[in-house]
Amino acid sequence: SSQKSFSAAILNWYDAHARKLPWRSPPGMQPDPYHVWLSEIMLQQTTVVTVGPYFEKFLNLWPTVHALAAASLDDVLTAWAGLGYYARARNLHKCAIAVSIEFGGQFPKDRDNLLSLPGVGPYTAAAISAIAFDKPEVVVDGNIERIVSRLYRITTPLPAAKKEITEFASKIMPRRRAGDYAQALMDIGATICTPRTPNCAACPVSRHCAAFAAGDMAQFPVKAPK
Ligand code: ADE
Repeated sequence: SSQKSFSAAILNWYDAHARKLPWRSPPGMQPDPYHVWLSEIMLQQTTVVTVGPYFEKFLNLWPTVHALAAASLDDVLTAWAGLGYYARARNLHKCAIAVSIEFGGQFPKDRDNLLSLPGVGPYTAAAISAIAFDKPEVVVDGNIERIVSRLYRITTPLPAAKKEITEFASKIMPRRRAGDYAQALMDIGATICTPRTPNCAACPVSRHCAAFAAGDMAQFPVKAPK
């Protein structure tokens, strides 16, 4: 089916071209949920390049969620300095305590339990569930919104288009390798399906893309006037 050939093309591309990022596990291995959570919180408002060294620093200081829970908030805020949006650091510490105490140090696997944690919203819950536990959750960040809105030439403006985009994203996702698939789309959005001049020649799914066929990729996603 078209869904199968689409997701196979995405996953094959990922096997050959995935970015090597410090929170990713070697191919075929499940990443540590603590690493996935820590990276996703840091990446909420900060770029991959900036997050790298902070991610390493935090793991050196606090190798486990129990260690982070036992740290003082002051020490966490000091280590966070430079990343900005300090509410994230306060919630990070709160969340570590919650996982450590309420969940015995094991991150919950499903989206709904993840959503109950401080600092974990719908995007982050889906991302952790997919990446750390391979649950087939629909993960839609800004990069994936852009990819999907181009694939289908979605003319509804953002943010109203969010629901429509999520429905399309859900229809084309595979049932297995959910974490690789989500991260493949993130990488394609960051390096190929970029906002102004996407590199469609390098895209593994250009033949599935309505905007590529029409030659008007840069028109998507449509945004409501501010
Ligand atoms: N942005 C948010 N999460 C990410 C991830 N796991 N890989 C790359 N970019 C991301």
